[in-house]
Amino acid sequence: MTISANIKIAVLGLGHVGLPTALGLAELGWPVVGADDDQAKARRIAQGEAPFYEPGMAELLQRQLGSGRFQVAGSVPDAVQQGTILFVCVGTPLGADGRVDLSQVESVARTIARNLNGYKLIVEKSTTPVRTAEQFHRTIARYSNGQHPFDVAVNPEFLREGTALQDFFHPDRVVLGVATPEARQMLLQIYQPLLERMAASGNGSAASKGSSPLMVTDLNTAELIKHSANAFLALKISFINLIADFCEATGADVTEVARGIGMDPRIGPAFLRAGAGYGGYCLPKDLKAFVRIAEEHGVDFSLLNEVGRINDARAERIVQRLRHATWVIKGKTVAVWGLAFKPHTDDVRDAPSLRIVSRLREEGASLRLHDPWAMEQFRRDFPDQPPRLVYCPSPENAAEGADALVILTEWPEYLKADLARLRESMAAPIIVDGRNLMDPAAVRALGFDYYGIGRP
Ligand code: UGA
Repeated sequence: MTISANIKIAVLGLGHVGLPTALGLAELGWPVVGADDDQAKARRIAQGEAPFYEPGMAELLQRQLGSGRFQVAGSVPDAVQQGTILFVCVGTPLGADGRVDLSQVESVARTIARNLNGYKLIVEKSTTPVRTAEQFHRTIARYSNGQHPFDVAVNPEFLREGTALQDFFHPDRVVLGVATPEARQMLLQIYQPLLERMAASGNGSAASKGSSPLMVTDLNTAELIKHSANAFLALKISFINLIADFCEATGADVTEVARGIGMDPRIGPAFLRAGAGYGGYCLPKDLKAFVRIAEEHGVDFSLLNEVGRINDARAERIVQRLRHATWVIKGKTVAVWGLAFKPHTDDVRDAPSLRIVSRLREEGASLRLHDPWAMEQFRRDFPDQPPRLVYCPSPENAAEGADALVILTEWPEYLKADLARLRESMAAPIIVDGRNLMDPAAVRALGFDYYGIGRP
């Protein structure tokens, strides 16, 4: 087939992956139409309202709607018909049986099949188990009338919430899993403006080192790269959390151990922050899904099962630390700073705060919660219940009258709090720092009982 100069991109699914991808591609100069089955969400986006907090997103959305390069289609079938290259960015949650629930992926495959009106390149961007692209191809072939050719490719996303746009424009790597020369050529064309931008600015991490961040491989390998990457990140975090426990038992300092081992380029300094454990929509779910699919293929992934088990135990460790600090939790007022699973997002999915707040309630504590962005999301699981559970307008207000302060997300604004005043306003000066945000010496000098993670 010949490659048309009139490429239009359709992005199917406008969540944490789809929306940054759609806006990023529009910013690169491509005409993009987005669609989502959630009509209310699609309408909000069409009106210029970002459906979740992501730094820079609201501005980029308004700019690209204004430029006309990004539009929202009335329906997914409409977007499929308009697009030549379709990026599939639908959700892939974990099912009750521990397998990835691929019903949204399967449903979109049938929608695409029924709306083929010419050649389409269908690009799987959602995180899916290895061999999903093959199945996706079979499903489209089965449900279409066979009149229009199509290709399926895999282009895993490596966007982190909170830095999604920065990651889109400065990726460490762009992985393209392709099965045909046409798919390869079209995807290279799509990413060409990004590679040129990176080469010109020299500030992409791979480009700045003089190498191209592009990698072309086959479909199954591209899918495995994505799952392996998230599993390895989870492994690093659980590893450093184990070392933190050992540091606590021996009086060593895990932040220094992490610095020391991270100086070895074979290990690297990133993802070695000990704390309350990893959360979010990706690492916990992807790790479980990866273990499951490996087992189904007869591969023993007990190593990664342990990674998950270590992470699950982190929440209880924070509760134990608080019990140790307060002697008895029952009847105490506990301030919690940080509910989002990480800073710069309002996402609380699988956040350690969910488990810890739930445990503290079981233990009989009254909670005063604060987060700069995530309180609305958290309220869905934990509605206001004064005086047992209240949401506070500022971190200082949350700490007022509290017997202890627990930090669960390392929002930079928490470092700006006037700790001397905070100490005066609290009933007891106890800080359990689940993210090692504070400087222990400085906090202790102000008279706080300070408990970090893996630090003496
Ligand atoms: C993760 C990956 O980092 C992205 O590359 C990937 O694209 C994304 O999943 C995805 O699959 O969509 P994300 O879930 O946004 O991104 O968050 P991370 O930055 O990976 O953090 C995950 C969790 O690990 C957070 O709860 C964070 O607090 C925790 N973490 C991170 C630590 O406890 N210690 C660390 O050293 C680093």
